[in-house]
Amino acid sequence: NLPVYLHILVGSSKPNFYLFASLNVLCILVPADLLPACNSELTTLTFLQEVMDILLQYIVKTFDRSTKVIDFHYPNELLQDHNWELSDQPQTLEDILLNCRKTLKYAIKTGHPRYFNQLSTGLDMVGLAADWLTSTANTNMFTYEIAPVFVLLEYVTLKKMREMIGWPGGCGDGIFSPGGAISNLYAMLTARFKMFPEVKEKGMSAIPRLVAFTSEHSHSKTMSHPSLVGSGTNSLWSIKTHPKKKFVFLDTNKKYQMHVNKGFVPFFVSATAGTTVYGAFDPLIAIADICNKYRIWMHVDAAWGGGLLMSRKHRWKLNGTERANSVTWNPHKMMGVPLQCSALLVREEGLMQKCNQMHACYLFQQDKHYDMSYDTGDKALQCGRHVDIFKLWLMWRAK
Ligand SMILES: Cc1ncc(COP(=O)(O)O)c(C=O)c1O
Repeated sequence: NLPVYLHILVGSSKPNFYLFASLNVLCILVPADLLPACNSELTTLTFLQEVMDILLQYIVKTFDRSTKVIDFHYPNELLQDHNWELSDQPQTLEDILLNCRKTLKYAIKTGHPRYFNQLSTGLDMVGLAADWLTSTANTNMFTYEIAPVFVLLEYVTLKKMREMIGWPGGCGDGIFSPGGAISNLYAMLTARFKMFPEVKEKGMSAIPRLVAFTSEHSHSKTMSHPSLVGSGTNSLWSIKTHPKKKFVFLDTNKKYQMHVNKGFVPFFVSATAGTTVYGAFDPLIAIADICNKYRIWMHVDAAWGGGLLMSRKHRWKLNGTERANSVTWNPHKMMGVPLQCSALLVREEGLMQKCNQMHACYLFQQDKHYDMSYDTGDKALQCGRHVDIFKLWLMWRAK
């Protein structure tokens, strides 16, 4: 179909001739000969169509149960048997295609019916299509002017996610981040800022010593976050779990008082809804009661289990999440959205903005002619931010 396709696209009267001429030249042309080079439309379309064919063949093979999940080689074999080095000379387009084929030959087929790996849920076709579109649009999430539709989709989807959590009218805030560990870090930073706003300018020396609580089965990176926040890993108290791997706060009053007596300020509890290894759900309602009693920020790490909020049958496991101050929810886990797609949702609107904003005047000019609350970049820790929303939004629409 390619000749016809090219014929329609470029309006050529001799599509076959142009096509074969283009295919032949892929072995002498280099990527600099593609768009935006002059008169390169046909070569570019031919090249991209070839790439697309490689991808489509790989996808069909991926779902073929009789193929290998991976053509596994040890690192030294892969390194020695192929030339992966970067040279000073550009490769031809033909070589570029060979690189694509070779990379997929040794890739693991994550959509394969026999592929099972930690927290991975296959390869969704609509999500993949959305990812291709996202890469084609190739933009950044920091301002509305350069990502108008994506910013709006993020706004709409985050609101819907907050509604599903149970925050009235979907109120609150949120952001898509580069993964659940970073979303959890956002939560801890936001909680610390809420309790001690002066920390933003004056740092940890201006505030008391902090202590946080989580279960011994919470995610490994949650254990490391206090070192990033500046209170040190010793300031995270890991709570023993009962045999079902759930968080138990047996002697809460004693524990709380013990830390307060030592001069610590408990500021953060991270409950887990779907622990990484056992898939256990902490007793969120009991934890919410404790956090409420001691006025501690309650975070729910639902990176894994958040997908159950979409299930009429299983969503009760997250009862109590609606009382949390913040929630991490990774659609790239249970919901099968292509990597990566993780959201942090915060109940109080505006807090993330206050916590992280630095007013970069080259991005967030104050005289823009649209509602600048749609410039979401200043509430992020990052400056540039990848568009992770489109694959989630399109998959949601498709199901
Ligand atoms: C409960 C939980 N929280 C956080 C994370 C970290 O998520 P990510 O890998 O997206 O950083 C994981 C990942 O396995 C997890 O299971």
